[in-house]
Amino acid sequence: MEAECVVADDAEELFDASETFKKSALLSSREQYAALYKNSVDDPDGFWSHTASQFFWKSKWEESKAHTENLDVRKGEIRVEWFKGGCTNICYNAVDRHVEAGRGDDVALLWEGNDPGFDMKLTYKELLDRVCQLSNYLLAVGIKKGDTVAIYMPMLLELPIAMLACARIGAVHSVVFAGFSAESLAQRILDCKPKVLLTTSGVKRGPKLIKLKEIVDDALNRCVQEGGHSVDYCLTYDNKLAIKREDTPWKEKRDVWWQDVVPNYPTDCPVEWVDAEDPLFLLYTSGSTGKPKGVLHTTGGYMVYTATTFKHAFDYHDGDVYWCTADCGWITGHSYVTYGPLLNKATVLIFEGVPNYPDAGRCWEIVDKYHVTIFYTAPTAIRALMRSGDEPVKRHSRKSLRVLGSVGEPINPSAWRWYFEVVGDSRCPIADTWWQTETGGFMITPLPGCWPLKPGSATLPFFGVQPAVVDENGKELDGECTGFLCMKASWPGIFRSLYGDHARYETTYFAPFKGFYFSGDGCRRDKDGYYWLTGRVDDVINVSGHRIGTAEVESALVAHPLAAEAAVVGIDHEVKGQGIYAFVTLNEGVEYTADLKSSLISTVRCQIGAFAAPDAIHWAPGLPKTRSGKIMRRILRKIASKQLDDLGDISTLADPGVVAQLIEFTEK
Ligand code: WT7
Repeated sequence: MEAECVVADDAEELFDASETFKKSALLSSREQYAALYKNSVDDPDGFWSHTASQFFWKSKWEESKAHTENLDVRKGEIRVEWFKGGCTNICYNAVDRHVEAGRGDDVALLWEGNDPGFDMKLTYKELLDRVCQLSNYLLAVGIKKGDTVAIYMPMLLELPIAMLACARIGAVHSVVFAGFSAESLAQRILDCKPKVLLTTSGVKRGPKLIKLKEIVDDALNRCVQEGGHSVDYCLTYDNKLAIKREDTPWKEKRDVWWQDVVPNYPTDCPVEWVDAEDPLFLLYTSGSTGKPKGVLHTTGGYMVYTATTFKHAFDYHDGDVYWCTADCGWITGHSYVTYGPLLNKATVLIFEGVPNYPDAGRCWEIVDKYHVTIFYTAPTAIRALMRSGDEPVKRHSRKSLRVLGSVGEPINPSAWRWYFEVVGDSRCPIADTWWQTETGGFMITPLPGCWPLKPGSATLPFFGVQPAVVDENGKELDGECTGFLCMKASWPGIFRSLYGDHARYETTYFAPFKGFYFSGDGCRRDKDGYYWLTGRVDDVINVSGHRIGTAEVESALVAHPLAAEAAVVGIDHEVKGQGIYAFVTLNEGVEYTADLKSSLISTVRCQIGAFAAPDAIHWAPGLPKTRSGKIMRRILRKIASKQLDDLGDISTLADPGVVAQLIEFTEK
């Protein structure tokens, strides 16, 4: 692991919100925040019990004991519980509660299709009806509390509906991003063995048609062949705008058209009251070894945490129209497309398409069309749009915008400024939210209007979050410092385990620095207490805000029949943040050709998904290894970024000669 110090790319500037903004903000000074923050860490049980009481609980947890935890591997099993004994339902709180309060006619979901001109909307009452019908279908096919249901769908209204329908009956959803390949989908299905898979015939993303059901059939065949698992039902949404029924591969009995069955079920369905600690969902994420990790979140703490972070980090007010460009296949879509906003009764815009289709002005056209007030996206999208210049932005008014958000990777100060000045007309604070699949919700984030922003810094911890910056020996550092970012205590949204592998949960996150949760990120804390995230310190690459394990890409590459060995490192990439640079050794006697490079890249697309395709393949007659056989990635990173004068000590290599060979192959 290496920690890096990152300095702002020019002199540090402070950006404070306007007086007008502050006047109507939920919180408007650092002092106000400091008092609440102090209370949240001095008395977490009191603070979070009070926060949780705004939701509906069928029965309460023991008030004085909202949580118990052990984050120290030396003291036994790692265990976190929040609101245990309390009974609730997140779907009830996100939907029914608002309908019962007389707000059923308010718009819950707005949908904008891939192609301009196609749109839809659902009020809270309509959403409730749709959710209930699907819950009833799931019950009818035998899904019970605690069963897993896999979801492989694009950004249709049916995706959040599917998540809520599972939650309503206590089923555990496992959403797989619809950009994953058949092999990745199969791997995830085989890990959690759902009886039902919810999917879609196909979808258009930009100008491209993606035949999702073909990928699903391939995945389900692999599940039978590789793991002897078959799903009972594959409920398929007929996406007429993309592909015809006749063109969709079909297996009678197993496959069912959504529209043929779901609307026939009643629009009311009783809620399954669950314990706060009953599982809500699994979401697979990449780690430093090949096998994806099934991050397990439970109900009560996740509900309270996503709702509260959403409200404060975006200064949410009744009437806001909120748009997050993330896909529900990632944690951002779980916490901040579906649960957090709906728990606040927000109007949420769901966009099926991509930011630059049909042109670079699409996002701002949508902002104006729906009068979006809060816009949340990723630095990679900002950088991509920035390349098309200011005109596509300025062509649209964007007057409705009030708050902007950023997530997924550190935002470079120049992209931050463009986002602030051009997109937000220097009027909208930017919430640069640092968090992870594992944390469930925002951890370090500005609260707009509360304190001045510094471009590139996620600023200060959210209520109840206690960061610790530690050195390589796990010693907590004080004041201004650089090190590894850990957490000293639990917060309600933290994941409770890795599905089926609690031991891996403990060794990955709690064993590296005893007594702490380790995030895997490096960071710097400045003189004002602001945090500056500097990226992953483990073998994980962040490509366009997507987490990809180097080991996953390596094992996909060596699945190619002509590849003998592979080593993958991240390199700086202008738009994607990081790109994937792969060193590949071929089998004895195989010729190194350009065709073979393309074939290796398509192997990775097939094994993982297009988003994990390497940006460069570097032929490697040999890889730099220590005498014990460990690949020295430090050297590979230098070669990949062409820092050839600065390779460091190579004398510990088993064969220092490979370095010269690799440099020679740079040109091939
Ligand atoms: C990793 C988590 C959490 C939603 C999206 C990604 C990086 C995320 C920021 C940010 C700097 C960030 C970290 C983190 N990251 N947001 N605002 N500033 N880095 O979720 O796939 O679980 O990835 O993304 O490296 O560890 P994820």
